[in-house]
Amino acid sequence: MSFDAPRSTWSSRWAFILVTIGSAVGLGNIWRFPYMTGAQGGSAFVLVYLLCVALVGLPLLMAEILIGRRGRGNPVSAMLKVAEENGASPWWGALGWVGVLGALLILAYYSVVAGWIVEYTYQAIAGVRILTPEAAKQGFADLQANPLRLIFWHTVFLALTVGVVARGVLSGIERANLLLMPALFVILLFLVLWGGMVGDMRTAWHFMFDFKPELLTGQVVLSAMGHAFFSLSLGMGAIMAYGSYLDKRASIAHNCFWIALMDTLVGLLVGLAIFSLTFAHGLEANSGPGLVFHTLPLVFTHMPGGRVVGSLFFLLVLFAAWTSAISLVEPFVAWATERLGVHRAAAAWGTGAAVWLLGVAVCLSFNDWSGFKLFGLNLFDQVDYLTSRILMPLSGLAIALFVGWIMSRKNAQDEIRLPAAQFQLWRQVLRYVTILAIVLIFVYRLANPDS
Ligand code: PHE
Repeated sequence: MSFDAPRSTWSSRWAFILVTIGSAVGLGNIWRFPYMTGAQGGSAFVLVYLLCVALVGLPLLMAEILIGRRGRGNPVSAMLKVAEENGASPWWGALGWVGVLGALLILAYYSVVAGWIVEYTYQAIAGVRILTPEAAKQGFADLQANPLRLIFWHTVFLALTVGVVARGVLSGIERANLLLMPALFVILLFLVLWGGMVGDMRTAWHFMFDFKPELLTGQVVLSAMGHAFFSLSLGMGAIMAYGSYLDKRASIAHNCFWIALMDTLVGLLVGLAIFSLTFAHGLEANSGPGLVFHTLPLVFTHMPGGRVVGSLFFLLVLFAAWTSAISLVEPFVAWATERLGVHRAAAAWGTGAAVWLLGVAVCLSFNDWSGFKLFGLNLFDQVDYLTSRILMPLSGLAIALFVGWIMSRKNAQDEIRLPAAQFQLWRQVLRYVTILAIVLIFVYRLANPDS
């Protein structure tokens, strides 16, 4: 059964760019990118990351939006429609399902981490002072040991997210992004300027951009590639769903260029801001996932204007996480409204309830259930591993295979509409370079099971 109600279209090309940057810029850029850069030796990681964005991320971003817009439906219907148009098996519809369900899995732990951010935003605004490194670590450990607090913040964040999706594509998703993303950019610019004024920007710059070949290892390449997928929201239906609301006349290639560029710039700028403040206080950048939760609250307590800067920083993270989480709910909600005819608000809150339950299990995996481990990983790490290390690259590989090899050249060109030489360049990179890069990553991982 299908309900072909007229579909919404983003109100302008800029609205599309903004919502898609909203999806891409998230905890990945602000929490993960800096700590991965810090832990993986700085510049080596940054350089490989930039290459991965150019050779794997950007071509795939275009391919995913292409499918969404051509199929003009939720990821499952879009895949089915495009497969049919190109004489391919309906089994390709499964690719849509991997995205739609994978996105909900990501959301279950994404919302828990974003919940920590809500708590830290609250603490920063309330002016809680964290004087020593031990106190910072203890504060974070206390939060993780407290299931009720974790569940409370997870609930708050998820409700904010679902509330936006329930209101609709234009009056919910687009409007929220149009408010939150400009605010995010203003805060970011302020933080970078502030970092330049009171921080140690020179050391931060050298740390991120002085290339040290001896630090380049297979492990660095592996994490950079994984992060490119995560940061650009690839392979999880989010981009496909957003692409399905894109006007037929808009240029996919130009829009994608801006999206990939801005996503990368935000990561680099946040990194510079965070590291210049961290180095100015004689602290290390390699504290891993704790960088934002251990190191920064300490820095904010000890720096001039720290309460304001700290509050703004955590608001920035919160806005970024919120707009990304919205894009994780939309694919399934679009499917439920289009295929089952469920009312959007009911679909959104129902989806939220299911994700909430899974998120509660994730919250408990840090405390009451921390004894339950599979392959040495708790539930939080398992879901993260399954989605960002397996599902995202696999689904990216399938998308590249489909658009590069199965979809007819004519149909692809009809949608991408680039001049012949540029179209050819994109298609060949997708057919060979992108596919080879993803395959090599899996081979490397099989050969090095600990990576
Ligand atoms: N790109 C988002 C981030 O960087 C995460 C995300 C992944 C969002 C997949 C949607 C789909 O945080």
